[in-house]
Amino acid sequence: MRALAHRRLPRFVVDYLEGGAGRGLTLARNRAALDAIALVPRTLRDVSEVSLATRLFGLAMAAPLMIAPTGVAGLLRPGADVMLARAAARLGLPFVLSAASNVPVEDVAAQGGLVWMQVYPLRDREATRRLVARATKAGCVGIVLTVDTPVAGVRHWEARHFTPAGRPRLRTRLDALRHPAWLMATLRHGPPRFPNIGLDVTGLDERAERKAINEGKDPAFTFDDLAILRDACAGRLVVKGLAAPEDVERIAALGADGAIISNHGGRQLDGMVSTVEALPACLQAAGAMPLMLDGGIRDGVDVAKVLALGAKAVLVGRVPLYGLAAAGEDGVAHALSLLTKELDRVLALVGCRDVTGLDRRVLSGRCGSDRDSCLRLGRPGTGGRAASAPC
Ligand SMILES: Cc1cc2nc3c(=O)[nH]c(=O)nc-3n(C[C@H](O)[C@H](O)[C@H](O)COP(=O)(O)O)c2cc1C
Repeated sequence: MRALAHRRLPRFVVDYLEGGAGRGLTLARNRAALDAIALVPRTLRDVSEVSLATRLFGLAMAAPLMIAPTGVAGLLRPGADVMLARAAARLGLPFVLSAASNVPVEDVAAQGGLVWMQVYPLRDREATRRLVARATKAGCVGIVLTVDTPVAGVRHWEARHFTPAGRPRLRTRLDALRHPAWLMATLRHGPPRFPNIGLDVTGLDERAERKAINEGKDPAFTFDDLAILRDACAGRLVVKGLAAPEDVERIAALGADGAIISNHGGRQLDGMVSTVEALPACLQAAGAMPLMLDGGIRDGVDVAKVLALGAKAVLVGRVPLYGLAAAGEDGVAHALSLLTKELDRVLALVGCRDVTGLDRRVLSGRCGSDRDSCLRLGRPGTGGRAASAPC
């Protein structure tokens, strides 16, 4: 599906989809950390029936898997947000609609299924509150507040494709001409707009709209502001973009319902820790608050590893986007079902009948993560020390 996406999309869109920040160190590190984890299958268990179903935040999910929020998906295919929502609903999986999405939240939520609304901290605090109220009224099941974007990450590929004034360079225009299916669809629908950011951008042209959105984000948003938002938001509130255990502890104390250990898929701070490395210490800090994780998940084996480490669910960003670019709603559904089908098979192969019972016993040695936090986590009955293997 990735190959099909590459064929259909111009280079600048592929870079937007796949690119990381800086030199791509964190992008690569997410993958390397996942690959370093090894599974130890348990045999001679009855795995004739395997269940992927789970409940999280009181919501039933067909599998512990969600579509992560991805902004400007309409650049890949007009109407993308509806396609992502519909495919997720078909599979019984939740979908997180990005604040930088291109279809009104009301239209997306009307597709059914479990839709979460992602928001950014905005300078205009009323705007954030208005968007939360709008999403709740539209039927969204909760709010995801992304906190790893006080400023934009350094993305060198942007300069390759656009002038400092934000205009496409000549080679970018020529490349678009070489992708007629994408170009015709984009011309027919016009450039993606931003009906959900929360800011009033009516009447602005597309470039002014983007500028308003970038400048609208609030780099001065703190834990105190989060506490106010928590009080104002009656429903489920999950914080996305954490990697430091102290931050996880603080948001748990402020009453967040959950957190997503995330580095924005390696698109924000290059050189930062991979999410899998960060997870064990964050789990300790989280107490009873459930943690989810994203970053680099590409197949069912990855999903199983992260769940075995202790995350309650896994989010995927680029995987559904590959499906979207390749074949629209059906492509998204296919990409997601590849993950769930493989997860089903991996569960049977590691000897686990129920995905909610997956734990560190199926991981070898150091779990591919920080040794100290691995040792600190330990297992019940080992006095805080991990058994030699599995840890
Ligand atoms: C094209 C693209 C756009 C994204 N836009 C957003 C966004 O608007 N809000 C957000 O919180 N995260 C955004 N993310 C980050 C994802 O939610 C998620 O953290 C990341 O994609 C996970 O890594 P993966 O793509 O390797 O699965 C975006 C990621 C991609 C690839």
